[in-house]
Amino acid sequence: MLAKNDTKFNVAVIGAGYVGLVVSACLAKLGNKVISVDNNRKKIELLKSMKIPNYEPGLENLVRENVRRRKLEFSSDLKRAVRKSDIIFIAVGTPAKENGEADLSAVERVAFGISQVLDAYKLIVEKSTVPVRTGEKVKETIRRYAKGDIEFDVASNPEFLREGRAISDFLRPDRIVIGVESKRAASLLKALYRPLKAPIVVTDINTAELIKHASNSFLATKISFINAVSMICEKTGANIEEVALGMGLDRRIGKEFLAAGIGWGGSCFPKDVDAFIHIAKKTGYNFRLLEEVRHVNIFQRRHFLERIKEELWILKGKNIAILGLAFKPNTDDLRESPALYLINELLEEEAKLRVYDPQAMNKAKKFIRNVKFCRDSYEAVKGADCMILATAWEEFKNLNFKKIKTLMRYPFVADGRNLYSSSQLGSLGFKYIGIGK
Ligand SMILES: NC(=O)c1ccc[n+]([C@@H]2O[C@H](COP(=O)([O-])OP(=O)(O)OC[C@H]3O[C@@H](n4cnc5c(N)ncnc54)[C@H](O)[C@@H]3O)[C@@H](O)[C@H]2O)c1
Repeated sequence: MLAKNDTKFNVAVIGAGYVGLVVSACLAKLGNKVISVDNNRKKIELLKSMKIPNYEPGLENLVRENVRRRKLEFSSDLKRAVRKSDIIFIAVGTPAKENGEADLSAVERVAFGISQVLDAYKLIVEKSTVPVRTGEKVKETIRRYAKGDIEFDVASNPEFLREGRAISDFLRPDRIVIGVESKRAASLLKALYRPLKAPIVVTDINTAELIKHASNSFLATKISFINAVSMICEKTGANIEEVALGMGLDRRIGKEFLAAGIGWGGSCFPKDVDAFIHIAKKTGYNFRLLEEVRHVNIFQRRHFLERIKEELWILKGKNIAILGLAFKPNTDDLRESPALYLINELLEEEAKLRVYDPQAMNKAKKFIRNVKFCRDSYEAVKGADCMILATAWEEFKNLNFKKIKTLMRYPFVADGRNLYSSSQLGSLGFKYIGIGK
């Protein structure tokens, strides 16, 4: 089972998206031999020519280095990848259906695919975020369709990395969660992760699956909570940033995920909250708390837009600059980004939009129409009646607002991430609105 030099493994990671690619490159860095598999042949061709489809700091170098060391390769050949591997991670997408339920068809397809080529014991690990009891279905599928009575284990090992900090999150995790049914599966995964020296929570598969949904839903709740508090601050003049600081210094609460803003987006929180609500309903429990968490999130961006309208009165024909398109900084991921909501609504009102993002422009150009894509923030704010800050990229922190004032038609900043000081912008002659202030 073990490769020559001690506890190094042959690993296949199915799905080379935001998560799969990072997992592949990091496991290769730890010395394992990794085959990263995707059924999107174009993606695999790109990767073979050392082009990284998603922006993630440090990933390109890590991939190059490990391909050079022959620890990492890319393939669309599932059969070869499965046969050559001891451990197979499933890291395909699990998007939301219309009704909020997780669409597990890609996971099922991979499970079926594995069943067709299984030739010896393998450990098959769910890396994708899936609802509780998916492991049972994966196991059932493989057993049902496998050609012969071949031994295998299914495990759950949810991923907690954050886009934008994915590599360090993977290599220095707060904890690793392993859901297993056998000692063999537990010892394989423990050995795989031993080099990370992180606390490992070993539990059953259902519990591991639930930990992931509960964690993401809790983090979304934390953000929605501070956003709800921001409404009270807006009406009373209390300072939302100081409220968050005062709360966050309490170690029981913690500082992270307490920044008020136009809400959470991305490929995880929206779908994971929805999926958790859905799976709870299926068990007979109405998770109203999470429904409200979702409502607060949607309200947040609507209310922000209302405040912009209040200031500009008629949006038709107004020039609006949007800085930031990605759902958060340090990624080019646009999935469920609040900026896209603002763009759609503003286009509906026939505003003229000039947009800029440090990394997400190429992806955005593929599907956003009727906006002007700008080279930088200064080009975006030219002639603008409003500058909307939608994503808290580092480069937006240090903009030259004296210059921006000379470029705008009306110096109005709508700060969707509380990145700027209202008093500083006020003293430069800007009209300023932030979240909760
Ligand atoms: N993005 C994040 O920050 C993050 C963090 C933790 C967990 N997750 C979870 O990880 C999973 C993957 O997320 P992602 O953001 O990487 O998604 P993604 O859409 O970026 O990547 C999924 C990849 O799987 C490939 N794929 C789909 N079906 C396939 C098949 N049958 N065979 C081979 N490849 C196939 C797709 O082509 C795509 O490249 C999801 O369940 C997500 O919830 C994501």
